[in-house]
Parts: sequence; structure tokens; C-alpha cells
Amino acid sequence: MILDERGKKYLISGIEEFQSDLGIITEEQIANAKIGDEIKSHLNHSFKIMKPNVNDFIDLMERKCSILIQKDIGTVLAHTGLGSGDKVVDAGTGAGAISLNFGNIVGDKGQVYSYEIREDFAEIASRNIKNFGIKNIKIKNQDIKEGIDEKDVDLIFLDLPRPFEIFEEAYDSLKLGGWLAVYSPYIDQAEISYRITKKLGFYNIKIIETLQRNLEVRPQGVRPQTRMVGHSGYLLFARKL
Ligand SMILES: C[S@@+](CC[C@H](N)C(=O)[O-])C[C@H]1O[C@@H](n2cnc3c(N)ncnc32)[C@H](O)[C@@H]1O
Repeated sequence: MILDERGKKYLISGIEEFQSDLGIITEEQIANAKIGDEIKSHLNHSFKIMKPNVNDFIDLMERKCSILIQKDIGTVLAHTGLGSGDKVVDAGTGAGAISLNFGNIVGDKGQVYSYEIREDFAEIASRNIKNFGIKNIKIKNQDIKEGIDEKDVDLIFLDLPRPFEIFEEAYDSLKLGGWLAVYSPYIDQAEISYRITKKLGFYNIKIIETLQRNLEVRPQGVRPQTRMVGHSGYLLFARKL
């Protein structure tokens, strides 16, 4: 990743020159640069070479659909206690935002299986994962409603229409103590999900909505920003015990 003097970040491929309004950096300069180096464009502006973390990468990666936002990803990771070595099933992948976070957390000893019904989206997500340089995420261009192949799963995360159609399958695939987490943009879907998980014998069922309000620091004082993200989605959590 390359960072300009304004703090604006860009992904670089490493195989072609980089151009911006602050000048050109040649392919050769990029090839010879190391993480932490500072290089000058032909207009004498400074650029820093930095390793992107998962959030930088998601901000800049290729996508053709909406992606989960940090407040919701964070809630899933914290609520389920996901950790190193865990096995995760995720659907649909979209561009791979939460899959990348799962892969980042479970590490080399863990594994993420991410189902995506659309071939074009599965290809984009596979490219994103390869470019991030992580090897523990397998994208499956499959309809998850045709079956979950994995067993003894620590976390099943669903972000797709009518998720409750596979809750029974999800229950069978989870290990004892495993979590089902479901993201729903509409409250109706969250409610149906609640009732069905209860009927299926899940425990610790909870629906959470996370609101994030940023503060701004002005010369006159500190106050919440006038605008905030009004709504993203509801998260349902249910545990197999
Ligand atoms: C909102 S996007 C997912 C965003 C993603 N979870 C993220 O982390 O940003 C919903 C995705 O679900 C996929 N999808 C819908 N039904 C599916 C199914 N039955 N099996 C697998 N993927 C499905 C869609 O093609 C779409 O890419």
C-alpha cells in the first residue's frame, strides 16, 4: 500500500507504475521499495510504503456489492469470542469483508469456508483474498441452502436473504458451544430468526443493534457529529449448547 502526504491510501499492484495528482512513481521505484520506505514522485511529493492491515485492505479492495461495516464485524468477533484455530462457515461472501476478518483472527491453524452463490462475486472475493495474502479462506461458489459440507464448526455467519431456511443444517454443523450469527437488514427477518432458533433448541439467543456515534472536536467544544450511520443491520446470536 502507498500513502501520500495527505494520508490518502492506495493499493499498488507492484507490477505497474503508480499515478496520482501528486505525481508518478515508476514501476522500478515500487519494485525496489520496502515496507517503511519513503519515496518521491516525479513532482517531488513524498509517498510512504506501508503494509495494509485488514481494514486498509477492505477500504481499497475491489467490490461490486455492499459490505459489512466495522461496527457490525466487531460485534460478531467480540460476541462469539472467535479465536486462533477456529473453524468458520460464512455465507454469502460478497466481496469478502467479514471473511477476511475471520481469516485474520483464526490464523494459520484455523480455516474459513465462505459460500457465494454468484460466480462473479466469488471470483472477486477470491482475488481479494489472494491479494491480501491470506491462505486460510476457501471460497465456495455454491448455494449454501443446498447444504453445509463442514462439521464441528465454531461459528456459522449468515448474511443472505431468508437465512432461517438453513438454521436446522447450521445446528447440525456446529460443534458444542459453537455460535450461529445472522446479519439482517430488516427487523422482520431478525424476529423470524429468533423464533426459529428458539424452536430448534439454540441457547443464549439475542438480537443486537449496534449504534455508533462519532464525536467531533471543534475550537468551540466537543459534540456528537450531526450525521451518523442511522442503520445498518440487526445481529442475531444463538449458541449450540
Ligand atoms: C450483502 S452480501 C454479503 C456481504 C458480506 N457478508 C460482507 O462481509 O461484506 C450478500 C451476498 O450473499 C450472496 N448470496 C445470496 N444467497 C446466497 C446463497 N443461498 N448462498 C450463497 N450466497 C448467497 C449474494 O450473492 C451476495 O453476494
